Amino acid sequence: MNISILGIPMDLGAGRRGVDMGPSALRNARLAAHLRELGHSVTDLGDVAVPIPETLDKHQASGLVFLEQIQQASRVTAQRVAALPPDVFPLTMGGDHSISMGTVTGNALRGSPDGVRTGVIWVDAHTDYNTPETSPSGNIHGMPVAHLTGQGDPVLSSLGGAWRLRPEDIVMIGIRSVDRMERELLREAGIQAYTMKDVDQLGMSRIHAETMERLSGVERLHVSFDADALDPSVAPGVGTPVAGGLTYREGHLLMELLSESGRVTSMDIVEVNPILDTHNQTAEVMVGMAASLLGQRIL
Ligand code: ARG
Ligand code: MN
Ligand code: MN
Ligand code: MN
Repeated sequence: MNISILGIPMDLGAGRRGVDMGPSALRNARLAAHLRELGHSVTDLGDVAVPIPETLDKHQASGLVFLEQIQQASRVTAQRVAALPPDVFPLTMGGDHSISMGTVTGNALRGSPDGVRTGVIWVDAHTDYNTPETSPSGNIHGMPVAHLTGQGDPVLSSLGGAWRLRPEDIVMIGIRSVDRMERELLREAGIQAYTMKDVDQLGMSRIHAETMERLSGVERLHVSFDADALDPSVAPGVGTPVAGGLTYREGHLLMELLSESGRVTSMDIVEVNPILDTHNQTAEVMVGMAASLLGQRIL
């Protein structure tokens, strides 16, 4: 497979600094080399330009922090990804999770200006379904899914023109932190979310099977993997850790089963923050997750 790696060193959407160094940490953990060892042809496209927060005035006219800069970086990200040929597998690296507004939109638009029906598997401790109105923090990395489905800020919710991510084409896995109003919105939208209780009770194998069944009608399938989905003992280098997450094996099993399905067409790795990490452990673990999704086998 032809894999294109693109970094989006974005930390304007998060409440803590350092996640902009995620792409460097993942390159340092030899992401491209690991994927080449699996037989893939890998091209590193470098990084999208994202402004440094210290150079900006934090108070925007809208009241949302860094809204304009995130709009601009999301537009560029969507354009860069959309310009990749449909047969390329884009592996996009954050940066905070606000990058997925651009990456998911860009992937849906590849080879098709109106966008094709795209499923999203959102692996995360959080549902990231706040809107600017419901968000308790104001941090845009808690809002990408709402914007992808057409809610919230009008610029961020129309990055793909009229294309929208359908709520029934989203499956969330690893969930254990949801804000009060966010929960209401999720219920109204009918988004399928497997909480950690579901992971404990059903097991990852069954969750994978149900996910594939639910997403059987989509043409493309994107995996957005937030490192904080994993337990903080496995992935400590994240800005919003939540106890009780996916084990190392649960993460790998999900990636291995998705790989076997042969249906995944793109992936994000987000929220890796080397400042909060221990000897780049979190980047190393996430490189392993990408390798499992892209064909690495134990035997
Ligand atoms: N729900 C919280 C918020 O809206 C936390 C979101 C964390 N998101 C993330 N991508 N780490 O602020
Ligand atoms: Mn290694
Ligand atoms: Mn997230
Ligand atoms: Mn998260």
